[in-house]
Amino acid sequence: MAREYLDQLRVDDRADLLARGRRRRWPCGATLFGEGDRSTSVVLVLSGRAKVFSLTEQGGEVLLAIRGPGALLGEMSALDGAPRSASVAALEPLDTIVVPVRSFLDFLLDRPDAAVCIVRLIVSRLRDSDRKRVEFGTYDALGRVALRLAEMAERFGQSGEHGEHGVRITLPLTQDELAAWTASSRESVTKALRTLRRHGVIETSRRSVAVLDVDGLRARAR
Ligand code: CMP
Repeated sequence: MAREYLDQLRVDDRADLLARGRRRRWPCGATLFGEGDRSTSVVLVLSGRAKVFSLTEQGGEVLLAIRGPGALLGEMSALDGAPRSASVAALEPLDTIVVPVRSFLDFLLDRPDAAVCIVRLIVSRLRDSDRKRVEFGTYDALGRVALRLAEMAERFGQSGEHGEHGVRITLPLTQDELAAWTASSRESVTKALRTLRRHGVIETSRRSVAVLDVDGLRARAR
């Protein structure tokens, strides 16, 4: 799983970028960016998780990604000058550094290694997106839910507690969000979660899913 942007930067590049911004804290639920807005800044996540989503014409939410500590948000419109490609909201209280677009672009021109890191990040996102397209044609709803949860648990693995099968990761996700993210109906997600719970690989509560066994999840997807 790709590391987030700040983790890929050289120490001096990272210090330079952070020094260009100002600290900003966001409460849980706050909107950092709205889809279609004009870009004025990029946001670097120091702690907490945010969701990236898009709204359908019917008002449904399609979850595109969950981004955690080290993430760079808002680079797409900063780079191409187009409106924000998606909305971003805090899933937990967020501690961030907000850098004005002009200063961010100057940083990339001054620091070629940091610019290459952005290209790498975008290539990795394109690979993910290709893989998901193949996955949608290959797996049923149970498989897609299992794979998505396994992927998130791997991404956020270090922040969990240790349980019987390794790290226990609690993901702040509702069933509606999982349904949107896996292009499945709410009913299929409920059924898939019930099956995965029965196999002992997850536990669920109203607004979160705890992953107990990542390998077990992947095995269930096959
Ligand atoms: P921007 O388009 O400026 O505003 C929305 C931000 O969400 C975008 O920049 C990226 O930082 C982030 N984003 C959009 N799509 C994805 C995706 N598929 N995966 C991860 N992050 C994304």
